[in-house]
Amino acid sequence: MDIGQDGKDLDYSAGFGNEHSSEAVPGALPVGRNAPQRAPFGLYAEQLSGTAFTEPRAHNRRSWLYRIRPSAAHPPFHRVPNGSLRSGPFQDVEPDPNRLRWGPLPLPAEPTDFVQGLVTVGGNGDVLRREGIGIHWYAANHSMQGRVFSSADGEFLIVPQQGALLLRTELGMLRAEPGHIALIPRGVRFRVDLPDGTARGYVCENYGRPFQLPELGPIGANGLANARDFLAPVAAYEDGDEETDVINKFGGNLWSARYSHSPLDVVAWHGSHVPYLYDLRRFNVLGSISYDHPDPSIFTVLTSPSDTPGLAGADFVVFAPRWLVGEDTFRPPYFHRNVMSEFMGLIEGAYDAKAEGFVPGGASLHNMMSAHGPDRATFDRASTAELIPQRVDDGLAFMFETRWPIVPTESALSAGHRQQGYDTVWEGLARNFRL
Ligand SMILES: [Fe+2]
Repeated sequence: MDIGQDGKDLDYSAGFGNEHSSEAVPGALPVGRNAPQRAPFGLYAEQLSGTAFTEPRAHNRRSWLYRIRPSAAHPPFHRVPNGSLRSGPFQDVEPDPNRLRWGPLPLPAEPTDFVQGLVTVGGNGDVLRREGIGIHWYAANHSMQGRVFSSADGEFLIVPQQGALLLRTELGMLRAEPGHIALIPRGVRFRVDLPDGTARGYVCENYGRPFQLPELGPIGANGLANARDFLAPVAAYEDGDEETDVINKFGGNLWSARYSHSPLDVVAWHGSHVPYLYDLRRFNVLGSISYDHPDPSIFTVLTSPSDTPGLAGADFVVFAPRWLVGEDTFRPPYFHRNVMSEFMGLIEGAYDAKAEGFVPGGASLHNMMSAHGPDRATFDRASTAELIPQRVDDGLAFMFETRWPIVPTESALSAGHRQQGYDTVWEGLARNFRL
């Protein structure tokens, strides 16, 4: 079947964490059982589980795939170069308490696809313990050809900053543009096409428990990211006999096996272990309507819990357009030192705590207990601003926040696009103390 070139008119299945079902051919999805003696149309039934069989229903993720050939039919995987991809444990360099900032990763000059274009910034934890995260940039100018990718090490939360991504996954297609996020679950195979020719963005590779929506507590039954705005693909399959390299990130390294056919051959599926898309502009931003700036956890889109209640392995947080109305309040993010570690990126526009230097495609890293907050220009302006209702709508920033310090890679520290002298943005904050 024709599965489209640019993905602008794709169908999706809405909801988060629920049971989806989809069939590209009517009647391909078995009714009333998962593993009939003979699946419809001679398809093979295969379960793909993202959580242990016995995890609680609220967290359990698995999908049943009905495919032309089983995934098991492949020769041995062999090691291939990792490129600039690194994984936890991160031991390139000593952990660094300094505040770090980078300009955008330059687009490549040579033909580079999404996998080749992954450059690891840093991370924490350990892929083999399924704890922690890896943070990557990507910059690519070539669609993936003759190969697909998956990570056994974690789920890929992809944040496009420039150029759309057409994600052709085993379960169907997603088109992710700047302002969207896309998530590819652990183990799901996908190919990335670049309908705009080039693409750049960020990835949080979450080794830990799958991202879920945060609990809402006293907020109530609605708000923040609403479940109905998450979009899973519908079944779309390739029935091709072209040899395809399946690149598998496993144990921090890349491995490859050549399949005799396209592994994107799932004709029907049902389940909850699914890729999804979310438009960050749909985030229902909540904030103070009296005084003070709420802690930024109020902007959490997705959270990957740890075994400690309230302590996230990773949070994905968005700073979306919103109104600021606080009375007698310093309205930008306050000065702070946190036990959690923060990696920030900017999708477009500007961020309200930094007057300059933090640019679209760039990034900053404020590690555990590193002091940070508004720069001098922002402090001076916000301290004297007239406190009329103010709409902050000139940018879209996000944060990967994590429980453990983020250890940078050697290449991120020595990168040409790292900004030297970041500390100077807090120079000149005047001594205003007077008795
Ligand atoms: Fe911060």
